[in-house]
Amino acid sequence: MATTFAVSSDIAKPELADKGKKRILWADQDMPVLQQIRARFEKEKPLAGLKMSACLHVTAETANLARTLKAGGADLVLIASNPLSTQDDVAASLVRDFGTTVGAIHGEDGNSYYKHVAMALAHEPHVTMDDGADLVSAMVFIAIDRLTMLSGNQKPVRDWAESFSAEQRKALFSRVIGSMEETTTGVIRLRAMEKDGVLKFPVIAVNDADTKHLFDNRYGTGQSTLDGVIRATNILMAGKKVVVCGYGYCGKGVASRARGLGAQVIVTEVNPIAALEAAMDGFGVMPMAEAAKVGDLFITVTGNKHIIAKQHFEVMKEGAMVCNSGHFDIEIDLVALKDLTAQHTPDVRHEVDEYKLKSGKKLYVIGSGRLVNLAAAEGHPASVMDMSFATQALATEYCVKNKGKLPNQVIAVPREIEEYISTAKLASMGIMIDTMTADQKKYSTSWEHGT
Ligand code: ADE
Repeated sequence: MATTFAVSSDIAKPELADKGKKRILWADQDMPVLQQIRARFEKEKPLAGLKMSACLHVTAETANLARTLKAGGADLVLIASNPLSTQDDVAASLVRDFGTTVGAIHGEDGNSYYKHVAMALAHEPHVTMDDGADLVSAMVFIAIDRLTMLSGNQKPVRDWAESFSAEQRKALFSRVIGSMEETTTGVIRLRAMEKDGVLKFPVIAVNDADTKHLFDNRYGTGQSTLDGVIRATNILMAGKKVVVCGYGYCGKGVASRARGLGAQVIVTEVNPIAALEAAMDGFGVMPMAEAAKVGDLFITVTGNKHIIAKQHFEVMKEGAMVCNSGHFDIEIDLVALKDLTAQHTPDVRHEVDEYKLKSGKKLYVIGSGRLVNLAAAEGHPASVMDMSFATQALATEYCVKNKGKLPNQVIAVPREIEEYISTAKLASMGIMIDTMTADQKKYSTSWEHGT
């Protein structure tokens, strides 16, 4: 592979390493399942000799996953999966204390972001790990010569990608054993790649494991999204009309936590089953055109684009606030908002931008329309990331153990991994459960016993 990009750490604030280390160790205390896996990996070294590149939110919790993969023997490069989610102190400690090569700078621009993507690929990984499918997409874009899609046409990255010969492009996938995907948006992109016949190695859909999305997407996104809104604005949630756009697991979590804080929650949906579920869960359900007129705070969690668009900004109330907790910053149409705006004042509070419209109305965008839980808070708490990242670590081990045997498709995490993780998590919480008697087991697998 063309390696014009040096594989060496690129971080913003090495002087923050002490603070980062404390935060990593604090988070680790709440990640008992990952600790258990790390201890085993330390002994068994299941990832020995493996080059890995991971594109994840660079947080204290991710640092503990990085430690686990390294304990297993992986030679790891970690880059940011979002320009605003990087915790610079954590990046500094990972480099200084935990022997990880990191390319991640909080607030980096597109050029820097894709320079890090290029670095992660220049590492020549056997296994990749994504949160949003950017690494796999980059490989596919190079292989099929869609370079402007890779880099947003950033020149240094384009030059690097163009330096691949036709042979190198063809061979790009040959060393890759497989990849892991952390989030819903990434899984959707990967399935589309599989359908188009461009996915040339197996990808394990970690997001789709019950041990991930039932907990991380719901309780993690639910709590951390409101945490982000509250840290950024300090608004009182009680009595607010909160419009939650999307009622997948993330939307369910956000709606339930907003209700817990006393908000009146309205859900918007395009899926009739999800909308019905929201209605029977006791939430108001209405089209966005109606919700736009009444909401005080709007939170998008759909995974789709332009959920809040020009016509919605036009009818919003004075002082309405909008934010996003979906993976990409496309859910709120900020270009349309800028078109309507007479005066844009960034950072009227940290992570809050004011838009004074030509009509005189003021609207507020929290977290620049990027993942508000990571831009304005610290992402999901460690306890829930414990399960997500335990799933990632064990899926990586499974992928390596089954090298060459898995289909070049988006595949599921084996059920035994999920059972191991949930059993270990319950044990760490001091929770015991029942087991079926022999008679019950027989009954549960037979068809002869009816009414
Ligand atoms: N995604 C959401 N929260 C996260 C966290 N704390 N660390 C890594 N990825 C995340």
